[in-house]
Amino acid sequence: MTNADDLFDQASNNIERLGLREIPFTESPIDLQSETLQRIFTGREDKLLQTFNLFKSRDRRRILVYGRIGIGKSAFLLEVLSVLRRKKKQMLTTYISLPANLDLATTALIALARDMPNDEWAQQQLYQMGIPTAMILKERNSEVTANMVFGGKLGEKDLPVTKPQYPTVSLETLLERSQQKYPEGVLIAIDDLDKQDPSTVRKLMHDAQGMLKGRAWFMLTGHPMGMTGDLLTSERGLFDLQLKLEELDQPTTYKMLINYLNSARINNDCKDPNDPRAVLPFLPKTAKKFCEASFGKPRLFNRLGSIVLSTAADLHAETITQEVLEKGLKAAAHSLPLQAALTFQEERVRALLLARGGLSDETVLMEDLQQLGVRTFSELLPILERLEEADLAHQLNQDDTKAFAPIPLPAADEELSLNEPKQ
Ligand SMILES: Nc1ncnc2c1ncn2[C@@H]1O[C@H](COP(=O)(O)OP(=O)(O)O)[C@@H](O)[C@H]1O
Ligand SMILES: [Mg+2]
Repeated sequence: MTNADDLFDQASNNIERLGLREIPFTESPIDLQSETLQRIFTGREDKLLQTFNLFKSRDRRRILVYGRIGIGKSAFLLEVLSVLRRKKKQMLTTYISLPANLDLATTALIALARDMPNDEWAQQQLYQMGIPTAMILKERNSEVTANMVFGGKLGEKDLPVTKPQYPTVSLETLLERSQQKYPEGVLIAIDDLDKQDPSTVRKLMHDAQGMLKGRAWFMLTGHPMGMTGDLLTSERGLFDLQLKLEELDQPTTYKMLINYLNSARINNDCKDPNDPRAVLPFLPKTAKKFCEASFGKPRLFNRLGSIVLSTAADLHAETITQEVLEKGLKAAAHSLPLQAALTFQEERVRALLLARGGLSDETVLMEDLQQLGVRTFSELLPILERLEEADLAHQLNQDDTKAFAPIPLPAADEELSLNEPKQ
């Protein structure tokens, strides 16, 4: 056996020593077809119920799921879709991540056409947009082989999408065609609007009013920053239901930990929160501490979980004791900022944020702003947002508090109060 093979076995042994087949925590989106989602998805019962209540109606509805990056919007969307696929077999549910530079109607058209592989008209729409389809791909592949000699990666090149002239009209036609096959209707879930900047989202939504009033059901995800004002007032009638996802509470986070561990544990499928075996290789005390450190934010929970378990494996630990957990959280506190590659200014804003335990235009001082090289608090907002998205807006390791001892600042001068406009 080669040395690398040995190392591979060693790594597996280290995970198995913890009683796990693999590390269950992941940042990548879950596969809709896999059973993993069903095993790990936790909480959000009230929001699921509100959503499912709408599906009792025959009228098509529009649902907006919004919340910060990493809070669990995509997971929620996929969970809803997977339940509908089991319970409403006569409904077509389709999921797509919003491509850059495309309007919502074209995006919806692509999503639906992709899921109607036997509909010639649908496939033709895709073909006209320059999107390889199941049928056409074959032709292209033979071209590719002929051209391969010239070293071109022709088949894999990202073809620019040729936008249809009237995507809303084409979408309606396609929905009409789908109706025979899917009497319970069509649900189009468009994810990742939260990745676009607020002004783009507003424009997309405004341009999509025709589509949203058409004959499909819609589920969209967005970031709270893009969802301000008139988009959220029902006046415009854009959405029938708006669900804001927030951090999970601690008991739910604890249950989520049980579900993740359970999905990877070798010999024990205990899921009773009152039974210490349910959180193995954690101990109830360290499990609780771990949940606190993740603030009920699912993505942070996954990031920390993955680092804590790898650290424990490297230490050849069998259980995650207080000491092991602390080492894991310390490793996370070290590696997350590295991953985020913060600029010098972002680092400094973070240091101040952690020292103060929060920054707002009420608490920030003129001196702070000067030290950070900005003139107004609003200039800090994008930086604070960036820190939040990188999961760096909170203390990761309670023991590091000393490292962020409050920066001594001169007393605030009464006359130097912040008179800058707040918006
Ligand atoms: N309710 C939940 N139960 C279990 N895992 C979750 C839950 N919500 C989110 N996750 C997981 O947390 C991570 C981040 O969630 P995600 O849905 O990608 O967030 P968002 O789409 O809001 O950015 C993903 O790995 C996801 O699978
Ligand atoms: Mg998402």
